[in-house]
Amino acid sequence: MTISSDVATFDLKQALAPNRLQGLWKMMTGFRLIYVMATLSLGIAAISKTATYLLLRYFIDKVLGTNAPLSKLILVGLGFVGLALLESGFTFLSGWLAAKTAEGTALRMRNYLYDHIQRLSFSYHDKIQTGELIQRATSDVEAVRRFFADQAIGLGRIVVLFIVNFIAIAKLNWSLAWRSVLVVPVLVIISYFFFGKVSKRYQAYQEQEARLSTTLQENLSGVRVVKAFARQDFERQKFEEDNWEKFLRGRHLLFMHSLYWPSSDILAGAQMLGGFVLGAIMAIRGEITVGTYMAYSGMVIWIIWPMRNLGRLIVQMSTGLVSYNRVAEIVKEEREALDVGDYQPQGPYRGEIVFDHVSFAYEEGQPVLDDISFHCLPGQSVALLGSTGSGKTSLVNLLPRFYDYTAGSITLDGVELKRYPRQYLRSQIGIVEQEPFLFSRTIRENIAYGVGRRISDEEVFAAARAAAIHDVILSFPDGYNTLVGERGVTLSGGQKQRIAIARALLRDPRILILDDATSSVDPETEGDIRAALRRLMAGRTTFIIAHRIQSVMNADQILVMDKGRIIQRGDHASLMAEAGPYRRIYEMQARIEEELADELESSVD
Ligand code: UTP
Ligand code: MG
Repeated sequence: MTISSDVATFDLKQALAPNRLQGLWKMMTGFRLIYVMATLSLGIAAISKTATYLLLRYFIDKVLGTNAPLSKLILVGLGFVGLALLESGFTFLSGWLAAKTAEGTALRMRNYLYDHIQRLSFSYHDKIQTGELIQRATSDVEAVRRFFADQAIGLGRIVVLFIVNFIAIAKLNWSLAWRSVLVVPVLVIISYFFFGKVSKRYQAYQEQEARLSTTLQENLSGVRVVKAFARQDFERQKFEEDNWEKFLRGRHLLFMHSLYWPSSDILAGAQMLGGFVLGAIMAIRGEITVGTYMAYSGMVIWIIWPMRNLGRLIVQMSTGLVSYNRVAEIVKEEREALDVGDYQPQGPYRGEIVFDHVSFAYEEGQPVLDDISFHCLPGQSVALLGSTGSGKTSLVNLLPRFYDYTAGSITLDGVELKRYPRQYLRSQIGIVEQEPFLFSRTIRENIAYGVGRRISDEEVFAAARAAAIHDVILSFPDGYNTLVGERGVTLSGGQKQRIAIARALLRDPRILILDDATSSVDPETEGDIRAALRRLMAGRTTFIIAHRIQSVMNADQILVMDKGRIIQRGDHASLMAEAGPYRRIYEMQARIEEELADELESSVD
C-alpha cells in the first residue's frame, strides 16, 4: 500500500493545532487530495440526482401528452438510466475515497501513538494509567476514524445536496424556493446548541470508559492478589460501580440524542408538508407546471430530509473532535530524547563511574537520594546493601538515564552523564530488573531480546549456562522454543530471574546492573551464577544489589545505604573490622543461618 511510507515519516506533532478542526485537517496530510476528490464525487452524485428530477419535469411537461416520437422517449429513458448510473457510481466513489482517507489516517495514528507511547519518559509512565493509554490509542482513534469516514463526508453531503437542490428550485420558482427552507436556520441553531451540550457529555463518557478499562486491566494483572486476599467481591463491586457510572453517562448521552430526534423530525416533516401543499396550490393556480411540481416535490425532500441528520452528525463530529483532543494530549507529551546529547562518544566506554554529591527526587520536595558520592574504577564491582526503600534501585536507575538526577554530578569515563545520548548509554548497560518482565514469546526470543543483531544458538546457550538456566530450559517440552506466559509454560520467580540474567549477559554490556537479581534463587544456584558472573564480568563494571551478605561480600566496594544516604562503605574485610551496620547485618544473617541449621539437625534426630 502507498500509505506505509508516510506512516513511517508523518509526525503527528505537526497536526497539533489549538483549533481541533484545523488539527484534524492537518492530520489528513497526504490524504487531502483524496478527500477533496471524495467531496467532488459527492457533488457530481448530487447534481446527477437533481438532474434526474429536472429530466422528470421535462418528460412530464414536454414529452408526455405530446406526440413525441419514439426516439425521444428512448432518449429520455436512457437519460434516466445514465443519471442513475452516474449518481450511484459517484456515491460509491465518494464513500470509497472517504473510507480510504479514514482508514489510512487511523492506521497512521495508531502506529504513531504506539511508537510515541514507548518513547515517553519513565516519569510519564509512572503517572499515567495503562487503561487510559489503551483507551486513547484504540477507542479515541476509532472516533477520529469515524469522523473522516462517515461524519465529515456526511456533513459535506448535506451541504452539497442543499446547495444543488436549492439552486435548482430557485431557478424554477424563487418564491417556492425560499419558502421551502424557512426551517433550515432553526434546524442549524438547534443542532449547534446540541453540539455544545453533547460534546461535554461525550467527554465525560469517554473518561468513564477509560476508568473502567483501567479497573479491568488492573484487576486482570493483579488477579492473583485479588484471589489470594479473597477480594473478589470487593473488586466486583468496584467494577460494578464504575460500570454503572458508565451506564449512567451513556444513558444521559442517549437521552440528549433522543431529545433531538423528535424535534428535528417534526420540524423537517412540517417543512416538507408545507412545501408540498404550497407547490400543489401553485400548480392548481397554474403558477407552475405539473412537471415543475413533480420535480420540486422530489428535490425538496433532498434539501430537508438530510437536514434531520445534521444534528446527529454534528453531535457525532463533536465526539470526533473530543477524541482528537484526547489523542493530542498524548502527542503533546515530550518524548524522551534517545539519541540527543552534546557528547558523541567513539566506541564502547570503559566504565569508570563517579558520583559526586548526587541527589535525586521523583517528586519535588521528597528526596530519595541524598548527597551520594563514590568512585568506581572500570571493571570494579560495587555492591549496594540496605533496607527496603533505601534508594538502591533509584540509584542504579540513574545510570541508563531512566531518570535524571536533580543535583550533583555523575560522570562516566570523565564525561557528565547528561551529555551522553540515552540510546548509547542503554546499549551498553545490561540490567536485570528487580521484577523482570518476560514477553509472551519464546524463551529464545526473550533471551535474545534487544540485541539488535543475529544471534547464534551457541551464544544464547552460553548466556543461559552462565545464568544457570540452560538445563532447566532443555527440560521443557519445546526447549528454547517454549512459549512463556499465557499460552506456554509458567515460570517460577527464580527461573524468570535467571532468564533475565541471560538476557542481560547476551548484550555483552560494559556495565551490568543486577537489581536483587538472585533474590528468588536458592543459595546453591546463586553460587553457580556468581561464579559464572565472576568469569564473565572480568573487566566490566558491575552493580550488585542484594540483601544476602554472601551475594555482596566479594564486591570490590560495598556501599551500605539507609534512607537515601550512604552510611558505610568499604570492602568486606574493612567493613567487618569496624562496628557498624554491616557487621550487624552479617552477624544477624549468620545467626539466622546457624539457628536454621540447628533446627534442621534437631528435626533430623
Ligand atoms: P527504591 O525503589 O530505590 O528502594 O525506592 P530500594 O532500595 O530499591 O528498595 P528495595 O530493596 O527494592 O525494596 C526508594 C524510595 O523511592 C520511592 C520509594 O517510595 C522509596 O521510598 N520511589 C520509588 C518513588 O517515589 N517513585 C518510584 O517510582 C520508585
Ligand atoms: Mg529496589
